[in-house]
Amino acid sequence: MPFLPVWLPGRLSVAQVLLAALVLSSAGAGPKEPASTIGCPESCYCSTSPGGGAGVGAVGGDLAVRCSNQFLSAVPRNLPNATRRLYLDYNQLVSVPADAFLGLPLLAELDLSHNQLTLLEPGSLSALGPSLRSLDLSSNRLTTLDPEALGGLAAKANLTNNPWLCDCALQEAMPKLDLDPASLVDVVCAAAVPEEVDAKGKSFVLLAEEMDLCAGLKRTTDVAMFITMFGWFAMVISYLVYYVRANQEDARRHLAYLKSLPKGHGDESSTVSTMV
Ligand SMILES: *[C@@H]1O[C@H](CO)[C@@H](O)[C@H](O)[C@H]1NC(C)=O
Ligand SMILES: *[C@@H]1O[C@H](CO)[C@@H](O)[C@H](O)[C@H]1NC(C)=O
Repeated sequence: MPFLPVWLPGRLSVAQVLLAALVLSSAGAGPKEPASTIGCPESCYCSTSPGGGAGVGAVGGDLAVRCSNQFLSAVPRNLPNATRRLYLDYNQLVSVPADAFLGLPLLAELDLSHNQLTLLEPGSLSALGPSLRSLDLSSNRLTTLDPEALGGLAAKANLTNNPWLCDCALQEAMPKLDLDPASLVDVVCAAAVPEEVDAKGKSFVLLAEEMDLCAGLKRTTDVAMFITMFGWFAMVISYLVYYVRANQEDARRHLAYLKSLPKGHGDESSTVSTMV
């Protein structure tokens, strides 16, 4: 391909670029442009609204990728790296893999609502870091908020309509989250641990103000620790008792043996008996 270097410094016409691409791909040589920088994923609709509310550094407009209502069971792979808004609502996603949203440094709005999400893998959303402003996780099947998945996200989140399990794990997770605090009011308990807590329909934040959901667990651990220690103690004591008994038995047998010996060794046996 000797003509390529001649072309590159000059102005490229569309036809030249296409031709070059054709030559490169047919030659199987040149580095393939990653799919993420061009095109739109299958079953998505991409649109650019010039300068549409994207804020500082909105070069090249505001790229929105809409993949709503497409029966998707996985997050599309080849999302354009300039995506600012991504709509994945009304699909059949059950989990968000750790690498689902890598390479999207501009993503500011993410809609994952109305799916069947039960799991957000560690790192999956926290990878979006501070660029994310709005996160919709409403109407899914989430039961807990994992700081490993959501830590470092300062987004405003919609967390309504999920079957949240209000337990010690959730209580411990809350202070580790950086989400907009107003979002957390929408974490409404569907169930609680310990079960006797009447939590159904209550906001977790309010519940946690009233009671310590980890208190029961601490008590259980204390009891378990006590039982374990008592068990060890009992074992040591019974071993000691057994040891002493067995030795007494031995000594007695030894004594009896000495006594059965012919007389003349009497003083020896009395020494042993004083020893025992
Ligand atoms: C997207 O990828 C292209 C090519 O790799 C790069 O030039 C561009 O800066 C990237 N855009 C963003 C927003 O990272
Ligand atoms: C949160 O999601 C629910 C259900 O998907 C919706 O009805 C509600 O309007 C959303 N709230 C906000 C503040 O966007």
